[in-house]
Amino acid sequence: MAEASAGLSGVVAGRSAIATVGKAGHGLRYRGYAIEELAAGACFEEVAYLLIHGELPASAELDAYRNRLAARRALPDAVRDIMQRLPAHAHPMDVLRTGCSALGAVAPVVDLAAMVDAADTLLAQLPAVIGCWRGVAAAGAGAGSHAVHTLVQFGAGPVTPTAERALDVAMTLYAEHEFNASTFAARTAASTLTDFHSAVTAAIGTLRGPLHGGANEAALDLISSFDDPDAAEAGVMRLLAEKTLIMGFGHRVYRGGDPRSPIIEACADRLVAEHGGAEMLAIARRIEAVMRREKGLFPNLDFYSAVVFHQLGIEQRLFTPVFVIARLTGWAAHVIEQLADNKLIRPTAEYIGPDDRAFVALSER
Ligand code: COA
Repeated sequence: MAEASAGLSGVVAGRSAIATVGKAGHGLRYRGYAIEELAAGACFEEVAYLLIHGELPASAELDAYRNRLAARRALPDAVRDIMQRLPAHAHPMDVLRTGCSALGAVAPVVDLAAMVDAADTLLAQLPAVIGCWRGVAAAGAGAGSHAVHTLVQFGAGPVTPTAERALDVAMTLYAEHEFNASTFAARTAASTLTDFHSAVTAAIGTLRGPLHGGANEAALDLISSFDDPDAAEAGVMRLLAEKTLIMGFGHRVYRGGDPRSPIIEACADRLVAEHGGAEMLAIARRIEAVMRREKGLFPNLDFYSAVVFHQLGIEQRLFTPVFVIARLTGWAAHVIEQLADNKLIRPTAEYIGPDDRAFVALSER
């Protein structure tokens, strides 16, 4: 039997037509389109449509899609009640996971034929799960793009056109990333023919961990622990000497650099020009320089996202929920793809336990 690969690293665990990640000459592409071009030329709703429906929308389709999402933002009363009863001190990822699960209890979706529509509905509803829990007046209502709606439900601001575009680009960058841990969890759940919301709930629980979704929150802790770039340089050198993991750096698949990082860094630049915060960006850039020089490590998407989300006025504990709202599109695409050609995901283990031995009755132990 073949030896196990730690963390399934390098294992091809299935076939997918949704994204390429780090393939030579291809970088990151969603359904063949380069992330650089999507981030520069498309809005998040176009990207969501591309991932969930399979192709970029035509202009009229995009208008209809925007209207459809805006019309479905409200939560069923039963789910509103549950969200309002959750304690204010709950972890927002637990709130989102509970909200997603509750939405599935009210309107379960098991048939593949209904899943594209269910994905659109859940995409529309998720920001209000946080809004309702936070007690936002008119949670789930309101016009505007998905980015604006998310900023409002998350209590962020000021909601300027630059802020809207920055979150829109960030959500495009976070939308999809092949067989990452949460997506693989969603596909594994879907492969049992469970319902749509159960698969997404599994993914949210998986994204909650600091090695996956939580890294942007931890990156802000790091960046904001320093007063200036020199202090950051000394501090990071100390952390490296202590062999501390620096959140927001490194990647399992990308080995030379994360193509999303320069795009989000440019967003941080534009936000700083309008909203201020140049010192924080300077600190982040010094940390990047030290990590490259000392460890040959590069920032992943989470590092400069921490600066962008902070500049947008998003509470730190809501950073990973923003990731969820964007990544739902990728999870949905993978759940639908899995079910369209399903085989139960059930690998085998390399056994490292005791050799065969005879059972000893309790009275003789
Ligand atoms: N800070 C310090 N050292 C790091 C590091 C980081 N962020 N990321 C990797 N390294 C080091 C490892 O300690 C290891 O050193 P060693 O060979 O001396 O033991 C080496 O680089 C190789 O890393 P490895 O752990 O094999 O990479 P991986 O593929 O298992 O892990 C991550 C990838 C993303 C889990 C890892 O880079 C990490 O934990 N990063 C921080 C969390 C993060 O930003 N997550 C978001 C991912 S998008």
